[in-house]
Amino acid sequence: MITKPKGTKDIYGKEGDSWLYVSNLLDNLMKKYNYNYIRTPIFESTELFHRGVGDNTDLVQKETYDFKDRGDRNITLRPEGTAGVVRSYIENKMYGNTEQPTKYYYNGTMYRYERPQAGRYREFSQFGFELIGSDDEISDAEMISIPYNFLKMLGLNGVTVKINTLGDKESRDNYRQTLIDYFKPHIEELCEDCKNRLEKNPLRVLDCKVDNELEIMKNAPRTIDYLNESSKERYEKVKEYLNILQVEFEETPSLVRGLDYYDHTVFELFATVASKDMAIGGGGRYNGLVELLGGPATPAVGYAAGMDRVMLALEEENITVGDSKAVDVFLMYVNEDEKKYATFLAQELRMNGFVVELEYLGRSLKSQFKQADRLESKFLMILNSEDLDNNQVKIKNNKTKEEELIDLDYIVYFLDENLEDEPCECGDDCDCDGEHGCGCNHE
Ligand code: HAM
Repeated sequence: MITKPKGTKDIYGKEGDSWLYVSNLLDNLMKKYNYNYIRTPIFESTELFHRGVGDNTDLVQKETYDFKDRGDRNITLRPEGTAGVVRSYIENKMYGNTEQPTKYYYNGTMYRYERPQAGRYREFSQFGFELIGSDDEISDAEMISIPYNFLKMLGLNGVTVKINTLGDKESRDNYRQTLIDYFKPHIEELCEDCKNRLEKNPLRVLDCKVDNELEIMKNAPRTIDYLNESSKERYEKVKEYLNILQVEFEETPSLVRGLDYYDHTVFELFATVASKDMAIGGGGRYNGLVELLGGPATPAVGYAAGMDRVMLALEEENITVGDSKAVDVFLMYVNEDEKKYATFLAQELRMNGFVVELEYLGRSLKSQFKQADRLESKFLMILNSEDLDNNQVKIKNNKTKEEELIDLDYIVYFLDENLEDEPCECGDDCDCDGEHGCGCNHE
């Protein structure tokens, strides 16, 4: 038997329904924030990630899937979404668009060669938001509030938000030298990678997965103590806006994030999974990245969450989503003429917005009744040649067990009248009552 590659997952059945539900809810929420959808390639040139994410990051040094294609080009499967979105922003000259800032969200697979464990896979799904073209603190605060609100909408109550600031370039240069001076006398205690990183990029020593339990790590200087006045003021404003948006947050001076492109605000959202704190997502401001990748100097801020981890957090809190896929009508038949009509009618009803299932296995009528029960079909339509010759069909309410013979022309009207309105799956208080018409994700 050929099995799936290590670190990958099959998502199907109820889990598949839950994924779709969460994706639909996300699409719907992002419309409210006026974000557009962006889809960038799953593979990009290797250089994009070396330059964008940073040569000295664990991500680029140890975790990317790199290969040469048949044209001898260096290609990397995307390990994250930001670098690709920024590449697209520059390549498509989005900075010239009249509508600014540019706001995009994405939802797709990413690849990191990591040691697989709960919530950590080699192929995983991330959804993310990028707001490019504003340096206003309100955009930092909103960027934190979007996932915060989204996770709340899903019913996750145990989410915590940790924030910190790295400050501007001057503050970071100041901090960088302080870190080098601090770690130098302890260099022998550090792992081989960190010994090499110390001079090149000392911030990366702070998020080393090998050294993070060392005492010297716990007592390391904090970014917050090396900020210049304007960076401090900026951070205060971000917190003020977060309070206005009623986002509860914890200031966490040790938070530095693992990618090189950040400055100023950095943040992560955590949930409890298997009694441990797990990062559901993270992000921050990256004012230097557009320019670094060859575009005009443009401030930006963004966030990405791991879809797999959102699912684990939902499981942990016993929240089930997306399992309301009940069938409206099950079409039953016995002979070939009835089957032909069922084929036609199923399409007609589906095009009118109903969830329709029909018999595919040639089962006996008795087994078809059982199948309709298994599917929790609300109505059964028993197609019978005699009734059809009279332009009629027998329809049974599977809950009350009442049966009626109705005219074929009347079926859509009958179902419209008799199917109970359900709250829309978009989870929002929209007006369509699940009837697929108000522009919500139920369409
Ligand atoms: P990141 O912190 O590297 O940030 O990844 C964001 C989230 O992706 C993590 O918090 C986690 O939930 C999920 N994730 C990462 N690696 C894995 C994995 N191996 N298996 C399952 N889930 C994983 C970024 O990627 C930045 N691009 C975020 C960002 C957007 N910053 C600005 N804009």
